[in-house]
Amino acid sequence: MKKRKGNSPQDKAEFVFQRIPAPLLLWYRQHKRDLPWRKNPTPYRVWVSEIMLQQTRVEAVKEYYRRFMEVLPTVADLAACEEEKLLKLWEGLGYYSRVRNMQKAAKIIVSEYGGELPKDLSTLKTLPGIGSYTAGAIASIAYGMPVAAVDGNVFRVASRLTEDPTPISAPAYRTYLENALTAVYPSAGKDCADFTQSLFELGATVCKPQTPDCDSCPVKALCHAYQSGTQSQYPVMPEKKAKRVENVCVFLIETPQGFCIRRREEGVLKGMNEFPSRVLEEGETAENILNEWGMYEFTQVKRKNYTHIFTHIRWNMTCVWIRTESAPFDAYTYDEILETVSLPTAFKQCMDILKESVQQLRLEI
Ligand code: ADE
Repeated sequence: MKKRKGNSPQDKAEFVFQRIPAPLLLWYRQHKRDLPWRKNPTPYRVWVSEIMLQQTRVEAVKEYYRRFMEVLPTVADLAACEEEKLLKLWEGLGYYSRVRNMQKAAKIIVSEYGGELPKDLSTLKTLPGIGSYTAGAIASIAYGMPVAAVDGNVFRVASRLTEDPTPISAPAYRTYLENALTAVYPSAGKDCADFTQSLFELGATVCKPQTPDCDSCPVKALCHAYQSGTQSQYPVMPEKKAKRVENVCVFLIETPQGFCIRRREEGVLKGMNEFPSRVLEEGETAENILNEWGMYEFTQVKRKNYTHIFTHIRWNMTCVWIRTESAPFDAYTYDEILETVSLPTAFKQCMDILKESVQQLRLEI
């Protein structure tokens, strides 16, 4: 390696970052995966893909993306989509505020920007759900602007290249990396789009979290972690906080009209559909809750325990399936629930219990 000014991560970055665009562009063009959002990367298509990819693996996103684009091919379609239909398209992806914010932004884009995503970076960032990462991805990939987009892949690649010990949770680290990478972007055009994606691609397919494939890396000669064999020490992650544990009782209430579903009024998954549920307080039982909801006559069909893990909470769940003549909630048939009602994944395991029984019943008939 050539001589550098000093040995701080910033000094290393100044030397290394300037030298990565050329080899990364060359490598990306030979090795990029054939992903659906890479064809015809319009601002809308890039936006939707980046929002989906934020907390979800590429393989899981592909089919959701295909369906979403088929049903809502334009910003105007997204803006006008009925909420339940939108949530159904997102069902299983989780973090539903992502799609809610996307629709809010779509309405603003239609009413204030003629249906076109703004080109100006600071205007993009004013839209709901569009932070500096998404704005950078749209600006560089769709508009060919020289702007970095720093996601988890990029944190990993950059911190290994420079052996930077800053925890990736430090907000100043993101800003620093955005600026340091933006400073070495190619001039406006297709290279900007490819440079952004080359960093994502390197992080996803070569500079992997647990098993980096350094032999295949086009920038290993520049990588300080590779030279010192310290890849596994970077990026430095924030300390994990213990999750709060809640005991949740979920009721599959079967009435002659179907199964009860209601909208969650508060807490995690607020605004989403659920099988009526409650966090169990000390000493409280499922029967207490049903009585409180005005149900005294019911028979229990099945009871099953399972867990669901959110980012900050662990739910220990008990699914209690009961039959009753009437209940204080709207009811839907089994087929309606499968086809038109959106249900968060946390409640899907209850649905699985139902599915097993319905399949068994249909086999017996
Ligand atoms: N991860 C985040 N954005 C991505 C993209 N555009 N392609 C592949 N992986 C990604």
